[in-house]
Amino acid sequence: MWNEFFTDKTVVIAGGSTGIGSASAAGFARAGANVVITDVADEVGWALVKTLNDEGGRVQYQHCDVSSEDDVKRVFSWVQSTFGSLDVVHANAGIEWTKDVRHTTLVQWQHVVDVNLTGVFLVTRAAMLTMCDRRSGAIVVTSSPHALATVPDSGAYAASKGGAHALVRSLSLEGAPYGVRVNGIVPGTIDTPMVRREAQAAANPERQMELMAGTHPLNRLGQPEEVANVALFLASPLASFMTGSLVSVDGGLMAGLPSGPPLSYNN
Ligand SMILES: NC(=O)c1ccc[n+]([C@@H]2O[C@H](COP(=O)([O-])OP(=O)(O)OC[C@H]3O[C@@H](n4cnc5c(N)ncnc54)[C@H](O)[C@@H]3O)[C@@H](O)[C@H]2O)c1
Repeated sequence: MWNEFFTDKTVVIAGGSTGIGSASAAGFARAGANVVITDVADEVGWALVKTLNDEGGRVQYQHCDVSSEDDVKRVFSWVQSTFGSLDVVHANAGIEWTKDVRHTTLVQWQHVVDVNLTGVFLVTRAAMLTMCDRRSGAIVVTSSPHALATVPDSGAYAASKGGAHALVRSLSLEGAPYGVRVNGIVPGTIDTPMVRREAQAAANPERQMELMAGTHPLNRLGQPEEVANVALFLASPLASFMTGSLVSVDGGLMAGLPSGPPLSYNN
């Protein structure tokens, strides 16, 4: 079904080597797009390129640290000279952070913000420059529920994602006159290397995964493909009247308030 929309389109995934980004890369590749995976995890990225190309994809890999202006400029200029067009960008790169604000150093704070927020700025700025010139394009940003409500020891992460959320809205207004749409995805807890690393920090990682699953009304973790499906939808003409939206893909996580045991009014 997606081939109708993405065959021969040029798609860049920032942070595409693992997790949600790798599922997004696979989704666009299977839809017939020319996919450029960019990441700092080069070995895993190259392995993914081989897997996807072995099954008939047209996928390339470029090293790109999203917090480096030089890297981002180099990659987008390579994309322009290689393909002559840019249709979709998924700004997905991100890192986790768990420490209370009192004990977060300025260097640590800046690193999280550099990757999770400045990285989105650099990638989307590069995309917007090309797309607004061509008067078409779609950008998808992976945000987080932490932009809206958070937990202790997540200050730098929450602040960085709050900034990404706000940037999606700004970019959508700036892109609209040029026909460039910008939307965000707000995933619940998705079973990715990031979440497994976080669980490893707990005394009982398997139990931690179960506890995380249980916070979602659908009572399970999400799969990266379930987020990627929404990235494809948002990037496709099926979402042609959507811009500035932040779409939850969270098994109901953000629908509820914390509550005690269920009340029954029927007895
Ligand atoms: N997994 C979840 O539950 C969840 C929930 C909400 C939001 N997110 C967000 O989804 C995105 C993807 O996370 P994931 O869970 O798939 O984790 P992941 O760790 O599997 O993927 C993150 C990717 O970003 C890459 N990356 C890290 N730093 C980079 C940098 N400086 N430059 C370029 N690439 C870099 C990593 O190498 C990796 O390939 C992140 O932005 C994350 O904050 C994840």
